[in-house]
Amino acid sequence: MTWNPNDLPLQTGKVVAVTGANAGIGFWTAYALAGTGASVILLTRNSKRADAAVQAIRAHVPTADLTVVPLDVADLGSVRDAGARLADLPRLDVLVNNAGIVHAPRRRELTADGLELVTGTNFFGAFALTAAALPALERTSGSRIVSLGSLASMLVRLNTDDLQQERRYSGWNAYAYSKIMLSSFGYELDRRLVARGSGTRSLVAHPGYSISGRTRTVPGVNEPSRLGRFVDTLQTPFTQGKEDGASPIVRAAIDPAAEGGTFYGPRYLMKGEPVAMKPARITTDERVAAAIWAEAEVATGIPLL
Ligand SMILES: NC(=O)c1ccc[n+]([C@@H]2O[C@H](COP(=O)([O-])OP(=O)(O)OC[C@H]3O[C@@H](n4cnc5c(N)ncnc54)[C@H](OP(=O)(O)O)[C@@H]3O)[C@@H](O)[C@H]2O)c1
Repeated sequence: MTWNPNDLPLQTGKVVAVTGANAGIGFWTAYALAGTGASVILLTRNSKRADAAVQAIRAHVPTADLTVVPLDVADLGSVRDAGARLADLPRLDVLVNNAGIVHAPRRRELTADGLELVTGTNFFGAFALTAAALPALERTSGSRIVSLGSLASMLVRLNTDDLQQERRYSGWNAYAYSKIMLSSFGYELDRRLVARGSGTRSLVAHPGYSISGRTRTVPGVNEPSRLGRFVDTLQTPFTQGKEDGASPIVRAAIDPAAEGGTFYGPRYLMKGEPVAMKPARITTDERVAAAIWAEAEVATGIPLL
């Protein structure tokens, strides 16, 4: 089926929740979905930045139905509170697990819960939030969970015996591991939902290589320096703006033809219109998925499915 990112199907009456919706891919995902008439819940950890995002979306869609819910995805207590808000909703059509650390620290750091910071933020928080929101998602016919993967998943060897890199840490591996884990979770979640006869589906999407200096200026949301713009513009041939980077996520969230377990990304890997593509093999390996799922259940203390 053809998909036109500039002519999205109306989603009036639907409710979508996006983590990290105050900036970057999360903001542009919320922006696009608000334009379809969906009610959008922006889950963010910074109320000032959330206000800027809300203002920017309202400037685009004056009638947008927007709700801000505080969420620090690196803090399991905060995830529990936000998750309870989602669980109480009469309906929840889409949960987008977007929030994440992109530039990992050079030295290993921990969350307040004692988990490796990048994995804790990019994966364990998403795992716990998904678990909390699942009742509302499963009450809603045709609902979806979209998790953010990355091309980085193709570039490292995952050590399933040291997922939180206690023995050997590098910032790059921490990021790539976290993206493999979140993607693997996305596919395994879909398999488990299918197995239990659930109507909810799980998909994975990635934004290619989408950078701030190629993204429109939005006060309080995206304000790259002149130097940042200059440097990013030099990368034009293989990058895109985050408005376009959000397109595969939006497609996974609302394309009526999208099936559970599909991986969406830009046609030319790093840029281009959103298409279904082949995921990195490690992310669909069921034995790896079982190890990752078990690690998440222990880390979060949450048994899921
Ligand atoms: N951009 C790319 O080319 C690319 C490529 C592959 C995958 N991705 C994935 O796309 C997602 C978004 O990336 P991006 O480029 O949009 O990054 P970004 O511009 O740095 O935005 C990250 C978002 O996540 C939020 N966030 C970070 N830690 C958080 C926490 N502890 N609690 C709540 N929110 C938190 C940030 O909020 P604050 O403003 O409060 O920090 C921000 O809203 C990530 O999952 C990333 O792995 C991006």
